[in-house]
Formats: sequence, structure tokens, C-alpha cells
Amino acid sequence: MQLIRWGIIGAGIIADKMANAIKLHKNSVLISVASRTKEKAVSFALSHNIESDTYESLLIREDIDVIYIATTHNFHFDNAMLALNAGKHVLIEKPFTVNAIQAKTLIQLAQEKQCFLMEALWTRFLPSIQYLKSILDGGAIGEIKMFDISFCNIAQGKYLPRLLDPNLAGGVTLDMGIYPISFVNFLMGSLPKQTQSICRFSQTGVDEIASYQMQFNNGVIANINTSFNLFTDNRAMIYGQTGYIEFNHFQQGQTFTIHKHDHSHNVIQSDVKTINNHENGFIYQVNEVFEKIQNGELESNIMPLQETLDTMKLMDDIRKQWGLIYPFE
Ligand SMILES: NC(=O)c1ccc[n+]([C@@H]2O[C@H](COP(=O)([O-])OP(=O)(O)OC[C@H]3O[C@@H](n4cnc5c(N)ncnc54)[C@H](OP(=O)(O)O)[C@@H]3O)[C@@H](O)[C@H]2O)c1
Repeated sequence: MQLIRWGIIGAGIIADKMANAIKLHKNSVLISVASRTKEKAVSFALSHNIESDTYESLLIREDIDVIYIATTHNFHFDNAMLALNAGKHVLIEKPFTVNAIQAKTLIQLAQEKQCFLMEALWTRFLPSIQYLKSILDGGAIGEIKMFDISFCNIAQGKYLPRLLDPNLAGGVTLDMGIYPISFVNFLMGSLPKQTQSICRFSQTGVDEIASYQMQFNNGVIANINTSFNLFTDNRAMIYGQTGYIEFNHFQQGQTFTIHKHDHSHNVIQSDVKTINNHENGFIYQVNEVFEKIQNGELESNIMPLQETLDTMKLMDDIRKQWGLIYPFE
């Protein structure tokens, strides 16, 4: 297969960025978009020069190989069930589902249907993140001891309704916390053995500010703070035995600094590394989907389904610590 043919479910904000990424990828073609609302589907389709469908008509099309699910969190499971049952490969926006039970069901169905399935955690595929992993594994700062990460912003306007709405599985953990959690898990190569957390609730009853403290099997500690209603410096610090890495703009950063020290509080050497990511960073996940489907593989080794499932379990556990249950759960 030289070309992979895409359809999108959900004509919202992030679907627009993904549509542009698909169009940039030389082995991908975007065929159609589906929305609950005809006007919205038509308007999105016109802006991207593609066709428009209903969810149902999209899934019976034979000229579409893979469905990208870009609806709000609460719909990911139902939309993915429909797509897998229609025999389509599926890429689901993060978080994969709302909880681990849903995630497990989708993974089993994908195996049954022999369909490719992946969580669209786009930062995982960025060259800068892959490079960071490779130098940490190569001992750039010796044994890793601690992470200290802040990932926050003040969401406004069109972004706020879905973040604040418990019926749409809003809240910062599923929306933003998932990024630093997955970042740490990826760099550690495992999930923490223990996680404690606290949160401040919004007036609508979802987690608005969350703080997680994790410990891994080898003793490594991770402190993570995240919020959609807080302005912070958004730095990721990784402290090791012989130095530390300062990653200045956690989410999309291409530049980070490796500081080496002499064990007496003195930094003896600092190297700034810049690894360019493509302007539309989604193109790397588009390429991953293309390569895996072309090779007949059913999952990505960069974003494995077991890790997705384990992360959903971890976020279930975090929400349980606060008694945060969504109305439809
Ligand atoms: N990777 C990233 O950088 C990134 C950034 C932002 C968001 N996301 C993820 O992308 C997904 C969508 O986020 P978004 O910001 O694009 O969301 P959005 O524009 O608010 O909504 C996306 C779609 O969800 C459906 N929807 C929205 N509100 C609804 C409601 N009240 N009732 C029923 N359906 C509703 C609509 O589908 P129809 O078109 O069918 O009506 C809408 O087009 C989420 O999983 C989010 O976490 C990822």
C-alpha cells in the first residue's frame, strides 16, 4: 500500500490541525470528515477540500482505511467501537478512553478484528522527545533520580466548555496531566509503583489543578503539577547522578540544556541541544500510523497498547483518590 486513506470523526478544533498534518504526509490522503451536524461537516470539508459524511456513512465507505477519532473524551469509546466493528484501523485522540475498562474492551476488539489501534499522543513521536530518550538511556546525566514538571495554561474561549464539563469527561488529568505522566513513563521505561495525588476542583466538579507525586521501582521520584487554569513556567527538569536536563518548554520544546556538575554544587559544563520538530508536529504520528499499517502491524511499539492501558489504569487510580467519577460512569 503506497497510500493510506483517512477519515475523521468529529469536526472540532484538533481535527483541523490533524487534517493539515495528514495533507502534509506524502503517503496519506484525507478523504472525508464526519460530524453529528451536517453544516459543521460540510464547512470543515470545504475548508480542507475533502468530502463530508455522517458517522454512519463514513464508516461504510470502502475508500477509507483508517479513522481518526477527534471527539470529546466521553465519545472516544463509542466512536472507536463503531469504527472497529466496521473493520477500520483506528487512531484515537488522547486520552484513549475515559477509563481502563473501556480501553481494555477496545484493545480486545481491535485484536479480534485484526485492526490497527493507537492512542494519538503526538508528543511521543517528536524527534526531540525521541532524542531526549536516547541520550538519557545513553547516560547523559547518569542514573536518573528525579523529575520535576509543570504543564499548565489558562484555557480560554472555545477550549473551556469541554474542559469544565464532567459530562464530556473534562478535567485536567485526562486532558493535560496525561502528557507529563506519559513523558515520565516513557523516559523511565515503566509505570510508577506508587502514585499519590491531590487536586483542586473547578466549580463544575472536575479537576482544575492537579499534583501527582510518583515513585518508580528503582526509587526515582516524579513531581508533576498540571492545570488548565494556571500560568506557570512549563518547565521539565530531569535530575540525574551527574547532571540535570532543563527542558524549557515542556510540551512542544525543541531545545533543552544538559548541565553537568561536579558534585559540589558547581555546574561545570552546559550544552544546549536543539532538535527540530516539523512545524505541524502531528505529522510524526501520521507517519507512525502509515508505517505500521503498511507493514501489517496492529500496534505501535512507540506507543504500545499495553502502556496506554496501564496509563488509563493509573489515571483511574488518581481519580479514585479524589472520588472523581463522571456522571455517565
Ligand atoms: N493533541 C493535542 O494537542 C490536542 C489538543 C486539544 C485537544 N486534543 C484532544 O482532541 C479531542 C477533541 O478536542 P477538541 O479541542 O478538538 O474538542 P472540540 O472541538 O470541543 O470538540 C470536538 C468534537 O467533539 C464533539 N463535541 C464537542 N462538544 C460536544 C458536546 N457538548 N456534545 C456532543 N459532542 C460534542 C463534536 O463532534 P461533531 O463534530 O461530531 O459534532 C466536536 O466537533 C479530545 O480528546 C482532546 O483531548 C488534543
